Amino acid sequence: MAVIALTGAQSAAAPPRRVSILGSTGSIGRSTVDLLLRNRGAFTVEALTANRNAAFLAEQARQLNARFAAVADPAEYGALKAALSGSGIEAGCGPEALVEAAERPADWVMAGIVGAAGLAPTLAAVRRGRIVAFANKEVLVCAGSLFMQEVAAHGATLLPVDSEHNAIWQCFDFERIDHIEKITLTCSGGPFRERSIDEMRHMTVTEAVKHPTWNMGAKISIDSATLMNKGLEIIEAHHLFGLPSEQIDVVIHPQSVIHGLVTYHDGSVLAHLGTPDMRTPIAYVLGWPGRTAAPMQRLDLASVGRLTFETPDPERFPALRLAREALIQGGGCPTVLNAANETAVKAFIDGRIGFLDIAATVEETLEAMPVGRLDSLDDVYHIDREARAIAAEHAARRARNHRPADQA
Ligand SMILES: NC(=O)c1ccc[n+]([C@@H]2O[C@H](COP(=O)([O-])OP(=O)(O)OC[C@H]3O[C@@H](n4cnc5c(N)ncnc54)[C@H](OP(=O)(O)O)[C@@H]3O)[C@@H](O)[C@H]2O)c1
Repeated sequence: MAVIALTGAQSAAAPPRRVSILGSTGSIGRSTVDLLLRNRGAFTVEALTANRNAAFLAEQARQLNARFAAVADPAEYGALKAALSGSGIEAGCGPEALVEAAERPADWVMAGIVGAAGLAPTLAAVRRGRIVAFANKEVLVCAGSLFMQEVAAHGATLLPVDSEHNAIWQCFDFERIDHIEKITLTCSGGPFRERSIDEMRHMTVTEAVKHPTWNMGAKISIDSATLMNKGLEIIEAHHLFGLPSEQIDVVIHPQSVIHGLVTYHDGSVLAHLGTPDMRTPIAYVLGWPGRTAAPMQRLDLASVGRLTFETPDPERFPALRLAREALIQGGGCPTVLNAANETAVKAFIDGRIGFLDIAATVEETLEAMPVGRLDSLDDVYHIDREARAIAAEHAARRARNHRPADQA
Protein backbone atom coordinates (compact mmCIF):
# COMPACT_ATOMS: atom_id res chain seq x y z
CA MET A 1 0.00 0.00 0.00
CA ALA A 2 1.44 3.34 -1.01
CA VAL A 3 0.92 5.96 1.66
CA ILE A 4 2.06 9.12 0.11
CA ALA A 5 -1.24 10.54 -1.06
CA LEU A 6 -0.88 13.33 -3.58
CA THR A 7 -3.39 15.55 -1.84
CA GLY A 8 -3.17 18.58 0.40
CA ALA A 9 -0.54 20.10 -1.86
CA GLN A 10 0.71 23.67 -1.40
CA SER A 11 0.63 25.75 -4.58
CA ALA A 12 3.16 28.46 -5.39
CA ALA A 13 0.68 31.22 -4.51
CA ALA A 14 -0.49 29.55 -1.29
CA PRO A 15 -0.57 31.51 1.99
CA PRO A 16 2.14 30.67 4.56
CA ARG A 17 1.98 27.04 5.64
CA ARG A 18 1.08 26.65 9.34
CA VAL A 19 3.46 24.20 10.95
CA SER A 20 3.95 22.48 14.31
CA ILE A 21 7.03 20.57 15.45
CA LEU A 22 6.82 17.64 17.86
CA GLY A 23 10.31 17.28 19.33
CA SER A 24 11.55 20.71 18.25
CA THR A 25 14.55 20.72 20.64
CA GLY A 26 16.05 17.54 19.14
CA SER A 27 18.34 17.10 16.17
CA ILE A 28 15.49 16.81 13.62
CA GLY A 29 13.59 19.61 15.37
CA ARG A 30 16.58 21.97 15.33
CA SER A 31 17.20 21.34 11.64
CA THR A 32 13.52 22.07 10.95
CA VAL A 33 13.66 25.29 12.99
CA ASP A 34 16.79 26.34 11.10
CA LEU A 35 14.95 26.00 7.77
CA LEU A 36 11.90 27.86 9.09
CA LEU A 37 14.07 30.77 10.22
CA ARG A 38 15.68 30.93 6.77
CA ASN A 39 12.28 30.95 5.03
CA ARG A 40 10.31 33.15 7.43
CA GLY A 41 7.67 34.43 5.01
CA ALA A 42 6.62 30.95 3.90
CA PHE A 43 5.62 29.55 7.30
CA THR A 44 3.85 30.41 10.55
CA VAL A 45 4.37 28.29 13.65
CA GLU A 46 1.53 26.96 15.76
CA ALA A 47 3.07 24.62 18.35
CA LEU A 48 6.44 23.27 19.51
CA THR A 49 7.18 20.48 21.99
CA ALA A 50 10.07 19.03 24.00
CA ASN A 51 10.54 16.48 26.73
CA ARG A 52 12.42 18.44 29.43
CA ASN A 53 14.46 21.13 27.70
CA ALA A 54 12.17 24.01 28.69
CA ALA A 55 14.70 26.82 28.31
CA PHE A 56 15.63 25.92 24.75
CA LEU A 57 12.01 25.26 23.82
CA ALA A 58 11.02 28.72 25.06
CA GLU A 59 13.88 30.28 23.09
CA GLN A 60 12.71 28.53 19.89
CA ALA A 61 9.08 29.51 20.55
CA ARG A 62 10.03 33.17 20.94
CA GLN A 63 12.26 33.13 17.84
CA LEU A 64 9.49 31.59 15.72
CA ASN A 65 6.63 33.49 17.33
CA ALA A 66 4.84 30.21 18.07
CA ARG A 67 1.41 30.20 19.72
CA PHE A 68 1.87 27.20 22.01
CA ALA A 69 4.82 25.35 23.58
CA ALA A 70 4.60 22.17 25.65
CA VAL A 71 6.98 19.99 27.66
CA ALA A 72 6.21 16.31 28.25
CA ASP A 73 7.64 16.37 31.77
CA PRO A 74 5.29 18.24 34.14
CA ALA A 75 8.26 19.03 36.41
CA GLU A 76 9.50 21.45 33.71
CA TYR A 77 6.23 23.37 33.41
CA GLY A 78 7.26 26.11 35.86
CA ALA A 79 10.53 26.69 34.01
CA LEU A 80 8.73 26.84 30.66
CA LYS A 81 6.08 29.24 31.94
CA ALA A 82 8.72 31.51 33.45
CA ALA A 83 10.82 31.48 30.27
CA LEU A 84 7.76 32.41 28.18
CA SER A 85 6.55 35.10 30.55
CA GLY A 86 5.48 38.27 28.74
CA SER A 87 5.66 36.64 25.30
CA GLY A 88 1.95 35.84 24.95
CA ILE A 89 2.89 32.25 24.04
CA GLU A 90 0.75 29.66 25.84
CA ALA A 91 2.54 26.94 27.81
CA GLY A 92 1.44 23.35 28.46
CA CYS A 93 2.81 20.18 30.01
CA GLY A 94 2.27 16.44 30.21
CA PRO A 95 1.08 13.88 27.65
CA GLU A 96 -2.22 15.70 27.03
CA ALA A 97 -0.39 18.91 26.16
CA LEU A 98 1.70 17.06 23.57
CA VAL A 99 -1.50 15.71 22.02
CA GLU A 100 -2.95 19.24 22.11
CA ALA A 101 0.16 20.53 20.30
CA ALA A 102 -0.36 17.90 17.59
CA GLU A 103 -4.07 18.69 17.26
CA ARG A 104 -3.82 22.47 17.10
CA PRO A 105 -4.65 23.93 13.68
CA ALA A 106 -1.64 23.35 11.47
CA ASP A 107 -1.33 22.20 7.86
CA TRP A 108 1.93 20.36 8.47
CA VAL A 109 3.29 18.59 11.56
CA MET A 110 6.85 17.37 12.04
CA ALA A 111 6.83 14.05 13.96
CA GLY A 112 10.33 14.46 15.44
CA ILE A 113 10.03 12.91 18.91
CA VAL A 114 12.37 9.98 19.56
CA GLY A 115 10.96 6.56 20.46
CA ALA A 116 7.52 5.08 21.03
CA ALA A 117 6.81 8.10 23.27
CA GLY A 118 5.88 9.83 20.00
CA LEU A 119 3.02 7.44 19.24
CA ALA A 120 0.12 9.31 20.91
CA PRO A 121 0.97 12.81 19.60
CA THR A 122 1.81 11.54 16.10
CA LEU A 123 -1.47 9.63 16.01
CA ALA A 124 -3.27 12.79 17.14
CA ALA A 125 -1.85 14.68 14.13
CA VAL A 126 -2.79 11.79 11.83
CA ARG A 127 -6.36 11.74 13.20
CA ARG A 128 -6.71 15.41 12.30
CA GLY A 129 -5.82 14.48 8.71
CA ARG A 130 -2.65 16.57 8.70
CA ILE A 131 0.37 16.38 6.44
CA VAL A 132 2.78 14.58 8.77
CA ALA A 133 6.50 14.93 8.11
CA PHE A 134 7.49 11.54 9.45
CA ALA A 135 10.86 11.17 11.22
CA ASN A 136 9.83 9.26 14.36
CA LYS A 137 10.35 5.76 12.88
CA GLU A 138 9.79 3.93 16.19
CA VAL A 139 6.08 4.85 15.91
CA LEU A 140 5.76 2.87 12.69
CA VAL A 141 7.87 0.00 14.01
CA CYS A 142 5.77 -0.41 17.16
CA ALA A 143 2.29 0.23 15.71
CA GLY A 144 2.87 -0.91 12.09
CA SER A 145 -0.23 -1.53 10.00
CA LEU A 146 -2.53 -0.18 12.73
CA PHE A 147 -0.81 3.18 12.33
CA MET A 148 -1.09 2.97 8.54
CA GLN A 149 -4.80 2.16 8.85
CA GLU A 150 -5.25 5.35 10.90
CA VAL A 151 -3.41 7.32 8.20
CA ALA A 152 -5.73 5.97 5.52
CA ALA A 153 -8.91 6.30 7.61
CA HIS A 154 -8.28 9.98 8.39
CA GLY A 155 -6.95 11.04 5.00
CA ALA A 156 -3.60 12.07 6.50
CA THR A 157 -0.49 12.34 4.34
CA LEU A 158 2.82 10.87 5.52
CA LEU A 159 5.95 12.41 4.05
CA PRO A 160 9.09 10.36 4.80
CA VAL A 161 11.86 12.37 6.49
CA ASP A 162 14.37 9.58 7.13
CA SER A 163 16.98 10.30 4.46
CA GLU A 164 16.81 6.82 2.91
CA HIS A 165 13.01 6.76 2.71
CA ASN A 166 12.88 10.33 1.51
CA ALA A 167 15.38 9.38 -1.22
CA ILE A 168 13.42 6.29 -2.25
CA TRP A 169 10.16 8.25 -2.25
CA GLN A 170 11.70 10.68 -4.76
CA CYS A 171 12.66 7.76 -7.07
CA PHE A 172 9.61 5.53 -6.49
CA ASP A 173 6.92 5.23 -9.17
CA PHE A 174 3.75 4.84 -7.08
CA GLU A 175 1.68 4.43 -10.26
CA ARG A 176 3.64 1.33 -11.31
CA ILE A 177 4.69 -0.45 -8.15
CA ASP A 178 4.51 -3.78 -9.99
CA HIS A 179 7.46 -2.60 -12.13
CA ILE A 180 9.65 -2.24 -9.04
CA GLU A 181 11.97 -5.15 -8.30
CA LYS A 182 13.44 -3.88 -5.05
CA ILE A 183 14.46 -0.84 -3.08
CA THR A 184 17.85 -0.41 -1.40
CA LEU A 185 18.49 1.48 1.82
CA THR A 186 22.07 2.63 2.15
CA CYS A 187 23.83 2.51 5.50
CA SER A 188 27.03 4.26 6.56
CA GLY A 189 28.03 1.23 8.63
CA GLY A 190 28.28 3.40 11.74
CA PRO A 191 31.37 4.13 13.85
CA PHE A 192 32.21 0.41 14.36
CA ARG A 193 32.08 -0.69 10.73
CA GLU A 194 35.68 -1.87 10.83
CA ARG A 195 35.83 -3.01 14.46
CA SER A 196 36.13 -6.64 15.55
CA ILE A 197 33.57 -8.18 17.92
CA ASP A 198 36.20 -8.09 20.65
CA GLU A 199 36.78 -4.39 20.15
CA MET A 200 33.05 -3.69 20.04
CA ARG A 201 32.60 -5.41 23.41
CA HIS A 202 34.53 -2.55 25.06
CA MET A 203 33.12 0.43 23.15
CA THR A 204 31.89 3.34 25.28
CA VAL A 205 28.85 5.57 24.81
CA THR A 206 31.10 8.41 23.66
CA GLU A 207 32.56 6.19 20.94
CA ALA A 208 29.15 4.80 19.95
CA VAL A 209 27.51 8.21 19.45
CA LYS A 210 30.39 9.47 17.30
CA HIS A 211 28.72 8.86 13.95
CA PRO A 212 31.13 9.09 10.98
CA THR A 213 28.85 11.02 8.61
CA TRP A 214 25.59 12.17 10.29
CA ASN A 215 25.07 14.46 13.29
CA MET A 216 22.07 13.04 15.20
CA GLY A 217 20.48 12.48 18.61
CA ALA A 218 22.02 9.93 21.01
CA LYS A 219 19.48 7.12 20.55
CA ILE A 220 19.58 7.01 16.75
CA SER A 221 23.38 7.34 16.82
CA ILE A 222 23.66 4.23 19.00
CA ASP A 223 21.10 2.46 16.79
CA SER A 224 23.38 3.34 13.87
CA ALA A 225 26.36 1.79 15.68
CA THR A 226 24.49 -1.52 16.25
CA LEU A 227 22.80 -1.25 12.80
CA MET A 228 19.44 -1.58 14.60
CA ASN A 229 18.66 1.75 12.95
CA LYS A 230 18.80 0.07 9.54
CA GLY A 231 16.68 -2.78 10.88
CA LEU A 232 14.04 -0.28 12.07
CA GLU A 233 14.26 1.37 8.66
CA ILE A 234 13.55 -1.93 6.87
CA ILE A 235 10.32 -2.19 8.88
CA GLU A 236 9.56 1.49 8.24
CA ALA A 237 10.10 1.00 4.48
CA HIS A 238 7.85 -2.06 4.46
CA HIS A 239 4.97 0.04 5.78
CA LEU A 240 5.67 3.21 3.80
CA PHE A 241 6.17 1.56 0.43
CA GLY A 242 4.07 -1.58 0.84
CA LEU A 243 6.92 -3.97 -0.05
CA PRO A 244 7.78 -7.30 1.62
CA SER A 245 11.10 -7.86 3.39
CA GLU A 246 12.66 -9.66 0.39
CA GLN A 247 12.21 -6.56 -1.79
CA ILE A 248 14.01 -4.33 0.72
CA ASP A 249 17.77 -4.52 0.48
CA VAL A 250 20.51 -2.90 2.59
CA VAL A 251 24.00 -1.99 1.43
CA ILE A 252 26.83 -0.42 3.41
CA HIS A 253 27.98 2.82 1.79
CA PRO A 254 30.42 4.60 4.12
CA GLN A 255 30.40 7.98 2.30
CA SER A 256 26.60 8.46 2.81
CA VAL A 257 26.26 10.18 -0.57
CA ILE A 258 23.71 7.86 -2.16
CA HIS A 259 20.76 7.66 0.26
CA GLY A 260 18.41 5.23 -1.45
CA LEU A 261 17.88 3.35 -4.72
CA VAL A 262 14.93 1.89 -6.59
CA THR A 263 15.57 -1.01 -9.01
CA TYR A 264 12.99 -1.52 -11.79
CA HIS A 265 12.26 -4.73 -13.70
CA ASP A 266 14.09 -3.50 -16.81
CA GLY A 267 17.33 -3.20 -14.82
CA SER A 268 17.16 0.60 -14.43
CA VAL A 269 18.26 1.81 -11.01
CA LEU A 270 17.20 5.28 -9.87
CA ALA A 271 19.22 6.72 -7.00
CA HIS A 272 19.03 9.87 -4.89
CA LEU A 273 22.28 11.62 -3.92
CA GLY A 274 23.15 14.49 -1.61
CA THR A 275 25.51 15.56 1.14
CA PRO A 276 24.69 13.94 4.50
CA ASP A 277 22.66 16.77 6.04
CA MET A 278 19.12 16.15 7.30
CA ARG A 279 18.11 19.64 6.20
CA THR A 280 17.91 18.31 2.62
CA PRO A 281 15.08 15.79 3.23
CA ILE A 282 13.45 18.17 5.72
CA ALA A 283 13.51 20.99 3.17
CA TYR A 284 11.88 18.66 0.66
CA VAL A 285 9.00 17.74 2.97
CA LEU A 286 8.61 21.36 4.13
CA GLY A 287 8.11 22.58 0.58
CA TRP A 288 6.45 19.47 -0.84
CA PRO A 289 5.22 19.23 -3.52
CA GLY A 290 7.48 22.17 -4.35
CA ARG A 291 11.00 22.62 -3.00
CA THR A 292 12.31 24.87 -0.22
CA ALA A 293 15.63 26.66 -0.63
CA ALA A 294 18.17 25.13 1.76
CA PRO A 295 21.65 26.33 2.60
CA MET A 296 23.75 23.21 3.01
CA GLN A 297 26.95 22.40 1.19
CA ARG A 298 26.29 21.13 -2.33
CA LEU A 299 27.47 17.70 -3.39
CA ASP A 300 30.81 17.86 -5.20
CA LEU A 301 31.39 14.37 -6.60
CA ALA A 302 34.94 15.09 -7.76
CA SER A 303 35.97 15.99 -4.23
CA VAL A 304 34.19 12.93 -2.81
CA GLY A 305 36.27 10.91 -5.30
CA ARG A 306 35.16 7.35 -4.59
CA LEU A 307 31.84 5.81 -3.65
CA THR A 308 32.21 2.36 -2.09
CA PHE A 309 29.76 -0.38 -1.10
CA GLU A 310 29.87 -3.47 1.13
CA THR A 311 27.52 -6.16 2.40
CA PRO A 312 26.65 -5.81 6.13
CA ASP A 313 28.31 -8.42 8.37
CA PRO A 314 25.56 -10.42 10.12
CA GLU A 315 27.97 -11.78 12.77
CA ARG A 316 29.08 -8.41 14.10
CA PHE A 317 25.71 -6.70 13.57
CA PRO A 318 22.98 -9.18 14.62
CA ALA A 319 20.43 -6.36 15.14
CA LEU A 320 19.82 -6.23 11.40
CA ARG A 321 18.85 -9.90 11.34
CA LEU A 322 16.67 -9.51 14.44
CA ALA A 323 14.71 -6.67 12.85
CA ARG A 324 14.19 -8.57 9.61
CA GLU A 325 13.05 -11.67 11.49
CA ALA A 326 10.64 -9.56 13.56
CA LEU A 327 9.15 -8.09 10.39
CA ILE A 328 8.72 -11.54 8.84
CA GLN A 329 7.21 -13.00 12.05
CA GLY A 330 4.80 -10.08 12.17
CA GLY A 331 2.14 -9.65 14.88
CA GLY A 332 3.60 -7.95 17.93
CA CYS A 333 7.24 -8.92 17.15
CA PRO A 334 8.29 -5.50 15.78
CA THR A 335 6.66 -3.89 18.85
CA VAL A 336 8.74 -6.16 21.11
CA LEU A 337 11.88 -5.46 19.06
CA ASN A 338 11.42 -1.71 19.39
CA ALA A 339 10.56 -1.70 23.10
CA ALA A 340 13.45 -4.02 23.97
CA ASN A 341 15.84 -1.94 21.90
CA GLU A 342 14.77 1.33 23.56
CA THR A 343 15.23 -0.30 26.97
CA ALA A 344 18.63 -1.76 26.12
CA VAL A 345 19.93 1.44 24.51
CA LYS A 346 18.94 3.37 27.65
CA ALA A 347 20.77 0.81 29.82
CA PHE A 348 23.85 1.22 27.62
CA ILE A 349 23.68 5.03 27.77
CA ASP A 350 23.39 4.80 31.57
CA GLY A 351 26.55 2.69 31.64
CA ARG A 352 24.78 -0.40 33.01
CA ILE A 353 25.43 -2.79 30.09
CA GLY A 354 28.02 -3.11 27.35
CA PHE A 355 27.62 -2.35 23.66
CA LEU A 356 27.15 -5.98 22.56
CA ASP A 357 24.56 -6.46 25.33
CA ILE A 358 22.14 -4.22 23.40
CA ALA A 359 21.38 -6.68 20.58
CA ALA A 360 21.69 -9.63 22.98
CA THR A 361 19.02 -8.12 25.26
CA VAL A 362 16.73 -7.55 22.28
CA GLU A 363 17.20 -11.16 21.12
CA GLU A 364 16.52 -12.56 24.62
CA THR A 365 13.37 -10.45 24.91
CA LEU A 366 12.09 -11.60 21.52
CA GLU A 367 12.75 -15.23 22.51
CA ALA A 368 11.02 -14.78 25.88
CA MET A 369 7.80 -13.31 24.50
CA PRO A 370 5.14 -15.19 22.53
CA VAL A 371 4.26 -13.75 19.12
CA GLY A 372 1.30 -11.65 20.28
CA ARG A 373 -1.41 -10.42 17.91
CA LEU A 374 -1.59 -6.74 17.08
CA ASP A 375 -5.30 -6.14 16.58
CA SER A 376 -5.69 -2.81 18.32
CA LEU A 377 -3.68 0.10 19.67
CA ASP A 378 -4.36 -1.27 23.15
CA ASP A 379 -2.40 -4.36 22.05
CA VAL A 380 0.49 -2.08 21.04
CA TYR A 381 0.61 -0.38 24.44
CA HIS A 382 0.22 -3.70 26.26
CA ILE A 383 2.97 -5.52 24.31
CA ASP A 384 5.24 -2.47 24.51
CA ARG A 385 4.89 -2.37 28.33
CA GLU A 386 5.44 -6.10 28.73
CA ALA A 387 8.49 -6.13 26.43
CA ARG A 388 10.06 -3.23 28.34
CA ALA A 389 9.64 -5.11 31.64
CA ILE A 390 11.19 -8.30 30.23
CA ALA A 391 14.01 -6.43 28.51
CA ALA A 392 14.76 -4.59 31.77
CA GLU A 393 15.13 -7.96 33.55
CA HIS A 394 17.52 -9.25 30.88
CA ALA A 395 19.47 -6.02 30.92
CA ALA A 396 19.71 -6.14 34.74
CA ARG A 397 21.09 -9.69 34.56
CA ARG A 398 23.64 -8.60 31.98
CA ALA A 399 24.46 -5.52 34.08
CA ARG A 400 25.64 -7.77 36.91
CA ASN A 401 28.40 -9.17 34.65
CA HIS A 402 29.22 -5.87 33.01
CA ARG A 403 32.56 -4.19 33.62
CA PRO A 404 32.79 -0.61 32.29
CA ALA A 405 35.35 -0.20 29.48
CA ASP A 406 37.84 1.66 31.70
CA GLN A 407 37.88 -1.28 34.17
CA ALA A 408 37.85 -4.08 31.60
N1 LIG B 1 18.63 13.01 13.92
C1 LIG B 1 18.57 12.56 12.69
O1 LIG B 1 19.39 12.92 11.84
C2 LIG B 1 17.48 11.60 12.27
C3 LIG B 1 17.46 11.11 10.97
C4 LIG B 1 16.43 10.27 10.58
C5 LIG B 1 15.44 9.91 11.49
N2 LIG B 1 15.49 10.39 12.77
C6 LIG B 1 14.44 10.00 13.72
O2 LIG B 1 13.83 11.18 14.21
C7 LIG B 1 13.45 11.00 15.58
C8 LIG B 1 14.12 12.10 16.40
O3 LIG B 1 15.52 11.90 16.39
P1 LIG B 1 16.55 12.99 16.93
O4 LIG B 1 17.89 12.52 16.52
O5 LIG B 1 16.09 14.35 16.52
O6 LIG B 1 16.36 12.78 18.52
P2 LIG B 1 16.83 13.78 19.68
O7 LIG B 1 17.88 14.70 19.19
O8 LIG B 1 17.13 12.91 20.84
O9 LIG B 1 15.51 14.65 19.96
C9 LIG B 1 14.35 14.04 20.42
C10 LIG B 1 13.25 15.05 20.64
O10 LIG B 1 12.15 14.39 21.28
C11 LIG B 1 11.94 14.93 22.60
N3 LIG B 1 11.64 13.81 23.49
C12 LIG B 1 12.50 12.89 23.97
N4 LIG B 1 11.86 12.01 24.77
C13 LIG B 1 10.56 12.41 24.80
C14 LIG B 1 9.41 11.93 25.48
N5 LIG B 1 9.46 10.87 26.31
N6 LIG B 1 8.24 12.59 25.29
C15 LIG B 1 8.17 13.67 24.48
N7 LIG B 1 9.23 14.18 23.82
C16 LIG B 1 10.42 13.54 23.97
C17 LIG B 1 13.24 15.62 22.96
O11 LIG B 1 13.03 16.65 23.94
P3 LIG B 1 14.26 17.13 24.92
O12 LIG B 1 15.18 17.93 24.05
O13 LIG B 1 13.59 17.93 25.97
O14 LIG B 1 14.91 15.87 25.43
C18 LIG B 1 13.64 16.20 21.59
O15 LIG B 1 12.86 17.32 21.30
C19 LIG B 1 13.89 9.60 15.96
O16 LIG B 1 12.83 8.70 15.82
C20 LIG B 1 14.97 9.27 14.94
O17 LIG B 1 15.09 7.89 14.69
C21 LIG B 1 16.47 11.23 13.17
